[in-house]
Amino acid sequence: MPILETSRLILRPFREDDLDLLAELMANPDFMRFSLGPYTREQTQSVLRKFLSWNQAGLPSQFAVIFRRNNKLIGYCGFLHQQVDGRDETEIGYRLHPDYWGRGLATEAARAMRDHAFSDLKLSRVISLIHPDNLPSRRVAEKNGMRPEKETVFRGFPTRVFAITRERWLAEHAAG
Ligand SMILES: CC(C)(COP(=O)(O)OP(=O)(O)OC[C@H]1O[C@@H](n2cnc3c(N)ncnc32)[C@H](O)[C@@H]1OP(=O)(O)O)[C@@H](O)C(=O)NCCC(=O)NCCS
Repeated sequence: MPILETSRLILRPFREDDLDLLAELMANPDFMRFSLGPYTREQTQSVLRKFLSWNQAGLPSQFAVIFRRNNKLIGYCGFLHQQVDGRDETEIGYRLHPDYWGRGLATEAARAMRDHAFSDLKLSRVISLIHPDNLPSRRVAEKNGMRPEKETVFRGFPTRVFAITRERWLAEHAAG
């Protein structure tokens, strides 16, 4: 997995020794908004194991988001493998520590992931799965060039599917 750089962030593969910092983030109810609530250290460990196993298998995976200015791990952004209404999909997901919200950082990370998905990984499309009440996340998806595709129920929650295809990304890139 490569290391991706944006103007304010470094997006690097997760490592085993990220467990302490990731567990701290995932124990925070704000970080875990619109999900299953705060995670225990054990739950975080199994999430981290999943990301590391995708890394090892050469599959798209989540990246650790490092804020360049202070070199801190402030969240994650990257790929998840989901089945939505019977279809295999690659999702771009993101969560940041609340101290870092509202500065465009999730958008910066999500755009880097989208460009990586299409220019390096050659994926045909990527989606984001978002609770209809999660307005900040919806804005990030929109600013990432995604459009709302449909409403569904995902793991028991009402969910809006946002998507962008490689074709549209290429057309919009060519158009500048
Ligand atoms: C979703 C999340 C990653 C966004 O991070 P962020 O770095 O603050 O996002 P950005 O600053 O790039 O963009 C947020 C956008 O939402 C908007 N926004 C923030 N709060 C809002 C609110 N209450 N109502 C409407 N819009 C809101 C911001 O104004 C901004 O849009 P704009 O650029 O058009 O002004 C962050 O809030 C988070 O980690 N939330 C908890 C986890 C989560 O919900 N993850 C997504 C799961 S699908």
